[in-house]
Amino acid sequence: MTKKVFLDLGKQPIANRFTSEASEDEFFFNLRVVFDQDTKLVSLEEFVDLPMMFNEDYVYLSSASKTMRDHFAQTACDFQREFKPWLVMEIGSNDGVFLNNFNRKTAFSVEPCTNFANITRSKGYTTYSEFWSTELSKKIVEEKGRPDLIYSANCMCHIPDIKNAFLAIEKTIADTGVFVFEDPSLLEMLKRNSYDQVYDEHAHVFSVTALQKILESVGLEIFRVQKLDIHGGSNRIFAQKVNCRNRGIEDSVSEALQEESIFGINLKETYIEFGKRVESSKKDLLNLLESEKRKGKKIVSYGATSKSTTVFNFCGIGPDLIDYIVDTTPAKQGKFSPGVKIPVISPEEGFDDSVDCAFLGAWNFLDEITKKETEFLKRGGVFLTHVPTVSVIKQRT
Ligand code: TMP
Repeated sequence: MTKKVFLDLGKQPIANRFTSEASEDEFFFNLRVVFDQDTKLVSLEEFVDLPMMFNEDYVYLSSASKTMRDHFAQTACDFQREFKPWLVMEIGSNDGVFLNNFNRKTAFSVEPCTNFANITRSKGYTTYSEFWSTELSKKIVEEKGRPDLIYSANCMCHIPDIKNAFLAIEKTIADTGVFVFEDPSLLEMLKRNSYDQVYDEHAHVFSVTALQKILESVGLEIFRVQKLDIHGGSNRIFAQKVNCRNRGIEDSVSEALQEESIFGINLKETYIEFGKRVESSKKDLLNLLESEKRKGKKIVSYGATSKSTTVFNFCGIGPDLIDYIVDTTPAKQGKFSPGVKIPVISPEEGFDDSVDCAFLGAWNFLDEITKKETEFLKRGGVFLTHVPTVSVIKQRT
Protein backbone atom coordinates (compact mmCIF):
# COMPACT_ATOMS: atom_id res chain seq x y z
CA MET A 1 0.00 0.00 0.00
CA THR A 2 1.58 3.27 -1.04
CA LYS A 3 -1.32 5.37 0.28
CA LYS A 4 -1.13 6.61 3.86
CA VAL A 5 -3.90 8.40 5.76
CA PHE A 6 -2.47 11.53 7.41
CA LEU A 7 -5.58 13.51 8.24
CA ASP A 8 -8.93 12.42 9.64
CA LEU A 9 -11.53 15.19 9.57
CA GLY A 10 -14.30 12.93 10.85
CA LYS A 11 -17.83 12.51 9.55
CA GLN A 12 -18.65 15.26 7.09
CA PRO A 13 -21.71 16.19 5.02
CA ILE A 14 -21.83 17.45 1.42
CA ALA A 15 -20.08 20.79 1.97
CA ASN A 16 -22.20 22.92 -0.35
CA ARG A 17 -25.55 21.31 0.34
CA PHE A 18 -27.38 23.78 2.56
CA THR A 19 -30.58 22.32 4.03
CA SER A 20 -34.01 23.94 4.12
CA GLU A 21 -34.81 22.63 7.61
CA ALA A 22 -32.63 22.33 10.70
CA SER A 23 -34.00 18.83 11.22
CA GLU A 24 -33.31 17.58 7.68
CA ASP A 25 -31.45 14.28 7.37
CA GLU A 26 -28.16 14.39 5.53
CA PHE A 27 -25.63 12.10 3.90
CA PHE A 28 -22.35 11.87 5.83
CA PHE A 29 -19.07 10.29 4.83
CA ASN A 30 -15.63 9.77 6.43
CA LEU A 31 -13.37 12.63 5.37
CA ARG A 32 -9.90 11.12 5.50
CA VAL A 33 -6.98 12.29 3.42
CA VAL A 34 -4.21 10.14 1.96
CA PHE A 35 -0.74 10.79 0.58
CA ASP A 36 0.26 8.40 -2.19
CA GLN A 37 4.02 7.89 -1.87
CA ASP A 38 4.17 6.55 -5.38
CA THR A 39 2.27 9.20 -7.36
CA LYS A 40 2.78 11.97 -4.72
CA LEU A 41 -0.91 12.74 -5.05
CA VAL A 42 -2.89 13.91 -2.01
CA SER A 43 -6.49 12.74 -2.28
CA LEU A 44 -9.58 11.81 -0.31
CA GLU A 45 -9.57 8.22 0.87
CA GLU A 46 -13.25 7.94 -0.03
CA PHE A 47 -14.64 9.83 -3.05
CA VAL A 48 -18.21 11.08 -3.03
CA ASP A 49 -20.28 10.33 -6.17
CA LEU A 50 -20.12 13.38 -8.43
CA PRO A 51 -23.91 13.77 -9.00
CA MET A 52 -24.43 13.97 -5.24
CA MET A 53 -22.37 17.17 -5.20
CA PHE A 54 -22.82 18.68 -8.65
CA ASN A 55 -26.46 18.80 -9.68
CA GLU A 56 -29.29 21.24 -10.33
CA ASP A 57 -29.14 22.48 -6.71
CA TYR A 58 -25.46 23.43 -6.68
CA VAL A 59 -25.12 26.75 -4.83
CA TYR A 60 -21.52 27.86 -5.27
CA LEU A 61 -21.70 30.99 -7.40
CA SER A 62 -18.34 32.02 -8.88
CA SER A 63 -19.36 35.62 -9.40
CA ALA A 64 -20.50 36.09 -5.77
CA SER A 65 -17.39 38.10 -4.88
CA LYS A 66 -15.72 41.04 -6.58
CA THR A 67 -12.35 39.30 -6.16
CA MET A 68 -13.50 36.40 -8.34
CA ARG A 69 -15.24 38.59 -10.94
CA ASP A 70 -12.08 40.68 -11.34
CA HIS A 71 -9.91 37.56 -11.38
CA PHE A 72 -11.78 35.95 -14.29
CA ALA A 73 -12.04 39.18 -16.29
CA GLN A 74 -8.27 39.69 -15.97
CA THR A 75 -7.57 36.05 -16.80
CA ALA A 76 -9.65 36.21 -19.98
CA CYS A 77 -7.92 39.43 -21.00
CA ASP A 78 -4.44 37.92 -20.42
CA PHE A 79 -5.29 34.78 -22.41
CA GLN A 80 -6.71 36.74 -25.32
CA ARG A 81 -3.62 38.87 -25.50
CA GLU A 82 -1.10 36.02 -25.23
CA PHE A 83 -2.75 33.05 -26.97
CA LYS A 84 -5.23 34.71 -29.35
CA PRO A 85 -7.39 31.57 -29.28
CA TRP A 86 -9.89 30.84 -32.06
CA LEU A 87 -11.84 28.19 -30.12
CA VAL A 88 -12.12 28.29 -26.34
CA MET A 89 -13.55 25.57 -24.13
CA GLU A 90 -14.10 25.94 -20.42
CA ILE A 91 -14.67 22.95 -18.17
CA GLY A 92 -16.77 23.91 -15.13
CA SER A 93 -18.05 27.27 -16.31
CA ASN A 94 -20.35 27.88 -13.31
CA ASP A 95 -22.42 30.99 -14.19
CA GLY A 96 -20.17 31.92 -17.13
CA VAL A 97 -18.13 34.53 -15.27
CA PHE A 98 -15.01 33.68 -17.35
CA LEU A 99 -16.70 32.72 -20.62
CA ASN A 100 -18.63 36.01 -20.68
CA ASN A 101 -15.44 37.67 -21.86
CA PHE A 102 -15.31 35.67 -25.12
CA ASN A 103 -17.30 35.68 -28.32
CA ARG A 104 -20.38 33.42 -28.20
CA LYS A 105 -19.51 31.85 -31.55
CA THR A 106 -16.01 30.75 -30.57
CA ALA A 107 -16.37 29.83 -26.92
CA PHE A 108 -18.35 27.05 -25.29
CA SER A 109 -18.50 25.24 -21.99
CA VAL A 110 -18.94 22.04 -20.08
CA GLU A 111 -20.96 22.44 -16.89
CA PRO A 112 -22.66 19.47 -15.21
CA CYS A 113 -24.76 21.56 -12.78
CA THR A 114 -27.90 22.17 -14.84
CA ASN A 115 -28.88 25.35 -12.99
CA PHE A 116 -25.59 26.97 -13.98
CA ALA A 117 -25.52 25.34 -17.44
CA ASN A 118 -28.88 27.01 -18.12
CA ILE A 119 -27.47 30.41 -17.09
CA THR A 120 -24.47 30.04 -19.44
CA ARG A 121 -26.76 28.87 -22.24
CA SER A 122 -29.10 31.80 -21.69
CA LYS A 123 -26.12 34.08 -22.33
CA GLY A 124 -25.75 32.46 -25.77
CA TYR A 125 -22.90 30.00 -25.18
CA THR A 126 -23.19 26.35 -26.19
CA THR A 127 -23.04 24.40 -22.94
CA TYR A 128 -22.64 20.64 -22.54
CA SER A 129 -24.37 19.83 -19.28
CA GLU A 130 -22.34 16.70 -18.56
CA PHE A 131 -19.37 15.58 -16.52
CA TRP A 132 -16.04 15.75 -18.34
CA SER A 133 -15.26 12.32 -19.82
CA THR A 134 -13.68 10.54 -22.78
CA GLU A 135 -17.14 10.13 -24.38
CA LEU A 136 -17.88 13.82 -24.05
CA SER A 137 -14.46 14.66 -25.45
CA LYS A 138 -15.22 12.63 -28.60
CA LYS A 139 -18.59 14.32 -29.01
CA ILE A 140 -17.03 17.76 -28.67
CA VAL A 141 -14.30 17.08 -31.22
CA GLU A 142 -16.97 15.93 -33.71
CA GLU A 143 -19.36 18.79 -33.10
CA LYS A 144 -17.02 21.70 -32.40
CA GLY A 145 -13.54 20.73 -33.51
CA ARG A 146 -10.40 20.95 -31.37
CA PRO A 147 -10.18 23.95 -29.02
CA ASP A 148 -6.83 25.72 -28.92
CA LEU A 149 -7.49 26.98 -25.41
CA ILE A 150 -8.97 24.76 -22.72
CA TYR A 151 -9.42 26.44 -19.37
CA SER A 152 -10.67 25.04 -16.10
CA ALA A 153 -10.73 26.83 -12.76
CA ASN A 154 -11.31 24.91 -9.54
CA CYS A 155 -12.72 21.95 -11.36
CA MET A 156 -9.96 19.49 -12.27
CA CYS A 157 -9.32 18.81 -8.58
CA HIS A 158 -12.96 17.66 -8.32
CA ILE A 159 -12.45 14.71 -10.66
CA PRO A 160 -11.65 11.40 -8.91
CA ASP A 161 -10.17 9.67 -11.99
CA ILE A 162 -7.84 12.54 -12.76
CA LYS A 163 -5.54 10.61 -15.07
CA ASN A 164 -8.40 9.77 -17.42
CA ALA A 165 -9.63 13.36 -17.27
CA PHE A 166 -6.22 14.64 -18.39
CA LEU A 167 -6.03 11.97 -21.08
CA ALA A 168 -9.36 13.17 -22.44
CA ILE A 169 -7.93 16.72 -22.55
CA GLU A 170 -4.93 15.48 -24.53
CA LYS A 171 -7.30 13.81 -27.01
CA THR A 172 -9.38 16.99 -27.38
CA ILE A 173 -6.96 19.87 -27.59
CA ALA A 174 -5.51 21.19 -30.87
CA ASP A 175 -1.85 20.32 -31.47
CA THR A 176 -0.84 23.95 -30.98
CA GLY A 177 -3.24 24.36 -28.07
CA VAL A 178 -2.80 25.37 -24.45
CA PHE A 179 -4.47 23.74 -21.48
CA VAL A 180 -4.63 26.03 -18.46
CA PHE A 181 -6.10 24.97 -15.16
CA GLU A 182 -5.96 26.32 -11.65
CA ASP A 183 -6.73 24.69 -8.33
CA PRO A 184 -5.77 25.16 -4.68
CA SER A 185 -2.08 24.51 -4.05
CA LEU A 186 -1.05 21.71 -1.73
CA LEU A 187 2.07 23.63 -0.74
CA GLU A 188 -0.01 26.64 0.33
CA MET A 189 -2.43 24.40 2.24
CA LEU A 190 0.46 22.86 4.16
CA LYS A 191 2.12 26.23 4.78
CA ARG A 192 -1.07 28.02 5.85
CA ASN A 193 -2.49 25.12 7.84
CA SER A 194 -5.65 25.55 5.80
CA TYR A 195 -6.97 22.03 6.28
CA ASP A 196 -10.40 23.33 5.26
CA GLN A 197 -9.26 23.12 1.62
CA VAL A 198 -10.29 19.52 2.13
CA TYR A 199 -13.95 18.71 1.57
CA ASP A 200 -16.04 16.36 -0.57
CA GLU A 201 -15.59 18.35 -3.81
CA HIS A 202 -11.81 18.45 -3.54
CA ALA A 203 -11.04 14.87 -4.53
CA HIS A 204 -7.37 15.93 -4.72
CA VAL A 205 -5.24 18.82 -3.49
CA PHE A 206 -2.59 19.14 -6.17
CA SER A 207 1.13 19.72 -5.90
CA VAL A 208 3.03 20.68 -9.06
CA THR A 209 5.14 17.59 -8.36
CA ALA A 210 2.19 15.21 -8.61
CA LEU A 211 0.68 17.05 -11.58
CA GLN A 212 3.88 16.86 -13.57
CA LYS A 213 4.00 13.08 -13.17
CA ILE A 214 0.34 12.53 -14.13
CA LEU A 215 0.35 14.96 -17.05
CA GLU A 216 3.51 13.42 -18.47
CA SER A 217 1.94 9.98 -18.31
CA VAL A 218 -0.82 11.15 -20.70
CA GLY A 219 1.38 13.08 -23.14
CA LEU A 220 1.05 16.58 -21.69
CA GLU A 221 3.82 18.75 -20.26
CA ILE A 222 3.79 21.76 -17.98
CA PHE A 223 5.51 24.78 -19.51
CA ARG A 224 4.59 27.42 -16.93
CA VAL A 225 3.44 27.57 -13.30
CA GLN A 226 1.87 30.74 -12.04
CA LYS A 227 1.15 31.22 -8.35
CA LEU A 228 -2.18 32.85 -7.55
CA ASP A 229 -3.50 34.30 -4.32
CA ILE A 230 -7.00 33.19 -5.23
CA HIS A 231 -8.82 30.61 -3.08
CA GLY A 232 -6.20 30.82 -0.36
CA GLY A 233 -3.26 30.10 -2.66
CA SER A 234 -3.60 28.31 -5.99
CA ASN A 235 -1.38 27.16 -8.82
CA ARG A 236 -2.24 27.99 -12.41
CA ILE A 237 -0.72 25.30 -14.60
CA PHE A 238 -0.05 25.87 -18.30
CA ALA A 239 0.35 22.64 -20.28
CA GLN A 240 0.79 21.61 -23.89
CA LYS A 241 1.17 18.43 -25.91
CA VAL A 242 4.60 16.88 -25.33
CA ASN A 243 5.05 15.72 -28.90
CA CYS A 244 4.30 19.16 -30.36
CA ARG A 245 6.29 21.24 -27.85
CA ASN A 246 5.15 24.60 -29.12
CA ARG A 247 6.62 26.63 -26.30
CA GLY A 248 9.78 26.34 -24.26
CA ILE A 249 9.59 25.16 -20.65
CA GLU A 250 9.84 28.23 -18.44
CA ASP A 251 11.92 28.52 -15.26
CA SER A 252 8.76 28.82 -13.17
CA VAL A 253 8.28 25.03 -13.54
CA SER A 254 11.62 23.98 -12.04
CA GLU A 255 11.31 26.76 -9.42
CA ALA A 256 7.91 25.47 -8.28
CA LEU A 257 9.16 21.87 -8.16
CA GLN A 258 12.23 22.91 -6.21
CA GLU A 259 10.23 24.92 -3.71
CA GLU A 260 7.94 21.95 -3.10
CA SER A 261 10.86 19.58 -2.73
CA ILE A 262 12.64 21.86 -0.23
CA PHE A 263 9.43 22.11 1.78
CA GLY A 264 9.28 18.32 1.95
CA ILE A 265 6.26 17.68 -0.23
CA ASN A 266 7.60 14.23 -1.13
CA LEU A 267 8.14 13.14 2.46
CA LYS A 268 5.49 11.37 4.49
CA GLU A 269 6.79 13.10 7.66
CA THR A 270 5.61 16.46 6.26
CA TYR A 271 2.07 15.14 6.23
CA ILE A 272 2.26 13.59 9.68
CA GLU A 273 3.42 16.96 11.08
CA PHE A 274 0.60 18.73 9.23
CA GLY A 275 -1.92 16.32 10.79
CA LYS A 276 -0.61 17.26 14.25
CA ARG A 277 -0.84 20.99 13.52
CA VAL A 278 -4.46 20.54 12.42
CA GLU A 279 -5.35 18.88 15.75
CA SER A 280 -3.77 21.84 17.63
CA SER A 281 -5.64 24.30 15.42
CA LYS A 282 -8.93 22.63 16.38
CA LYS A 283 -8.17 22.95 20.12
CA ASP A 284 -7.06 26.58 19.75
CA LEU A 285 -10.15 27.56 17.76
CA LEU A 286 -12.54 25.96 20.23
CA ASN A 287 -10.72 27.66 23.13
CA LEU A 288 -10.95 31.05 21.43
CA LEU A 289 -14.65 30.75 20.54
CA GLU A 290 -15.57 29.42 23.99
CA SER A 291 -13.62 32.17 25.76
CA GLU A 292 -15.31 34.91 23.67
CA LYS A 293 -18.68 33.31 24.36
CA ARG A 294 -17.97 33.25 28.11
CA LYS A 295 -17.28 36.99 27.91
CA GLY A 296 -20.82 37.40 26.55
CA LYS A 297 -19.73 38.24 22.99
CA LYS A 298 -21.99 37.59 20.03
CA ILE A 299 -20.16 35.51 17.42
CA VAL A 300 -21.30 35.05 13.83
CA SER A 301 -19.52 33.60 10.83
CA TYR A 302 -18.70 35.59 7.70
CA GLY A 303 -19.17 33.58 4.47
CA ALA A 304 -21.06 30.27 4.34
CA THR A 305 -18.23 28.50 2.59
CA SER A 306 -17.53 24.86 1.91
CA LYS A 307 -14.34 25.44 3.88
CA SER A 308 -16.33 26.46 6.94
CA THR A 309 -18.40 23.27 6.61
CA THR A 310 -15.19 21.31 7.12
CA VAL A 311 -14.07 23.45 10.07
CA PHE A 312 -17.42 23.43 11.87
CA ASN A 313 -18.04 19.72 11.47
CA PHE A 314 -14.47 18.77 12.34
CA CYS A 315 -14.33 21.00 15.42
CA GLY A 316 -17.94 20.44 16.49
CA ILE A 317 -18.88 24.11 16.22
CA GLY A 318 -22.63 24.64 16.05
CA PRO A 319 -25.30 27.28 16.80
CA ASP A 320 -24.34 27.18 20.50
CA LEU A 321 -21.09 29.00 19.60
CA ILE A 322 -22.00 30.74 16.33
CA ASP A 323 -25.41 32.44 16.24
CA TYR A 324 -25.65 32.49 12.45
CA ILE A 325 -23.65 32.83 9.23
CA VAL A 326 -23.93 35.85 6.93
CA ASP A 327 -23.47 35.26 3.20
CA THR A 328 -24.20 37.27 0.06
CA THR A 329 -25.32 34.24 -2.01
CA PRO A 330 -29.15 34.31 -2.27
CA ALA A 331 -29.36 30.50 -2.70
CA LYS A 332 -27.70 29.96 0.70
CA GLN A 333 -29.79 32.51 2.62
CA GLY A 334 -32.69 31.19 4.71
CA LYS A 335 -31.03 27.77 4.82
CA PHE A 336 -28.90 25.87 7.32
CA SER A 337 -25.22 25.03 7.03
CA PRO A 338 -24.48 21.37 6.26
CA GLY A 339 -24.04 19.06 9.25
CA VAL A 340 -23.94 21.44 12.20
CA LYS A 341 -26.98 23.36 10.92
CA ILE A 342 -26.13 26.98 11.66
CA PRO A 343 -28.71 29.35 10.08
CA VAL A 344 -27.52 31.39 7.07
CA ILE A 345 -28.86 34.91 6.53
CA SER A 346 -27.93 37.90 4.40
CA PRO A 347 -25.31 40.41 5.64
CA GLU A 348 -27.98 43.15 5.43
CA GLU A 349 -30.10 41.22 7.92
CA GLY A 350 -27.41 39.93 10.23
CA PHE A 351 -24.19 41.93 10.06
CA ASP A 352 -25.33 44.70 12.35
CA ASP A 353 -24.15 46.51 15.48
CA SER A 354 -25.01 43.57 17.72
CA VAL A 355 -22.13 41.49 16.28
CA ASP A 356 -18.91 41.47 18.32
CA CYS A 357 -16.89 38.75 16.58
CA ALA A 358 -17.05 37.30 13.06
CA PHE A 359 -15.35 34.02 12.28
CA LEU A 360 -13.84 34.29 8.79
CA GLY A 361 -15.42 31.37 6.97
CA ALA A 362 -14.26 33.14 3.81
CA TRP A 363 -10.70 33.80 5.09
CA ASN A 364 -9.46 33.64 1.51
CA PHE A 365 -11.26 36.96 0.88
CA LEU A 366 -9.69 38.67 3.90
CA ASP A 367 -8.63 41.79 1.94
CA GLU A 368 -11.99 42.28 0.25
CA ILE A 369 -13.85 41.76 3.53
CA THR A 370 -11.69 44.00 5.73
CA LYS A 371 -11.89 46.76 3.09
CA LYS A 372 -15.67 46.43 3.04
CA GLU A 373 -16.18 46.13 6.80
CA THR A 374 -14.21 49.12 8.04
CA GLU A 375 -17.14 50.33 10.18
CA PHE A 376 -17.32 46.98 11.97
CA LEU A 377 -13.60 47.12 12.78
CA LYS A 378 -13.75 50.80 13.71
CA ARG A 379 -16.43 50.18 16.34
CA GLY A 380 -14.29 47.43 17.93
CA GLY A 381 -15.62 44.40 16.05
CA VAL A 382 -13.05 41.66 15.44
CA PHE A 383 -12.58 38.88 12.91
CA LEU A 384 -11.51 35.47 14.14
CA THR A 385 -9.55 33.16 11.90
CA HIS A 386 -7.76 29.84 12.01
CA VAL A 387 -5.46 30.57 9.02
CA PRO A 388 -2.50 30.35 9.30
CA THR A 389 -2.91 30.13 13.08
CA VAL A 390 -5.90 30.78 15.29
CA SER A 391 -5.93 34.54 15.86
CA VAL A 392 -7.97 37.71 16.28
CA ILE A 393 -7.91 40.40 13.58
CA LYS A 394 -8.53 43.91 14.87
CA GLN A 395 -8.50 47.31 13.23
CA ARG A 396 -4.95 48.33 12.41
CA THR A 397 -3.84 51.23 14.58
P1 TMP B 1 -15.44 30.35 -1.29
O1 TMP B 1 -14.52 30.67 -0.18
O2 TMP B 1 -15.75 28.88 -1.40
O3 TMP B 1 -15.03 31.00 -2.56
O4 TMP B 1 -16.88 30.97 -0.93
C1 TMP B 1 -17.04 32.30 -0.60
C2 TMP B 1 -18.41 32.52 0.02
O5 TMP B 1 -18.36 33.68 0.81
C3 TMP B 1 -19.52 32.73 -1.00
O6 TMP B 1 -20.68 32.05 -0.58
C4 TMP B 1 -19.76 34.23 -0.97
C5 TMP B 1 -19.39 34.57 0.45
N1 TMP B 1 -18.91 35.94 0.64
C6 TMP B 1 -19.69 36.82 1.38
O7 TMP B 1 -20.76 36.45 1.87
N2 TMP B 1 -19.25 38.10 1.55
C7 TMP B 1 -18.07 38.54 1.02
O8 TMP B 1 -17.71 39.70 1.21
C8 TMP B 1 -17.26 37.61 0.28
C9 TMP B 1 -15.96 38.06 -0.29
C10 TMP B 1 -17.72 36.32 0.11
